[in-house]
Amino acid sequence: MKNIAIFYASSTGKTKFIANELSIHLEELKEYNIQVTGTEYMRDYSNIIFGISTWDGGSIQEDWKEIWDEFCEIDFSNKNVAIFGLGDQKKYPDKFVAAMKPLYDQLKSAGANVIGFTSTEDYNFKYSDAIEDGQFVGLVLDLENQSELTTSRIEDWVKSLKKDFI
Ligand SMILES: Cc1cc2nc3c(=O)[nH]c(=O)nc-3n(C[C@H](O)[C@H](O)[C@H](O)COP(=O)(O)O)c2cc1C
Repeated sequence: MKNIAIFYASSTGKTKFIANELSIHLEELKEYNIQVTGTEYMRDYSNIIFGISTWDGGSIQEDWKEIWDEFCEIDFSNKNVAIFGLGDQKKYPDKFVAAMKPLYDQLKSAGANVIGFTSTEDYNFKYSDAIEDGQFVGLVLDLENQSELTTSRIEDWVKSLKKDFI
């Protein structure tokens, strides 16, 4: 597995923590905080993991808002892309990890091959925009309510990505 990078943003450090955990599990992984590097370097990788958290009743995290217009200009065709999202299913049961959806939609319309869908089993929420064909559009983590499941969720997800990333 080569030429792989993770791009994330994080308001309180939780998404950053997960990005760090992922980089422990994936070799040759470059890690970029988009608050620092923006969209720079995104075009350089053929395998990309994006990390996003949901804020303010279903919105994308603020650093993602800052780069969104530029992000929408990037062509992701011929790239394998996976998304992980953080949210709080107990406090925001109707908007759980909603921010993954605009990211997913944009990546699809920009030509990306989006991989790494996961089961919605073992979560407890009312509604999430981030579901397509009965599955989450990426890895979903809830450090507020299910931190004890985080390690096994990451490990299972990384295994599936290793099969699909070229
Ligand atoms: C003011 C506020 C609004 C939030 N809104 C949502 C939401 O609409 N949906 C959701 O799933 N999580 C929501 N969350 C939970 C965050 O997504 C969660 O805490 C996440 O881990 C934050 O990650 P970060 O610190 O890396 O940005 C919200 C948290 C706060 C403090």
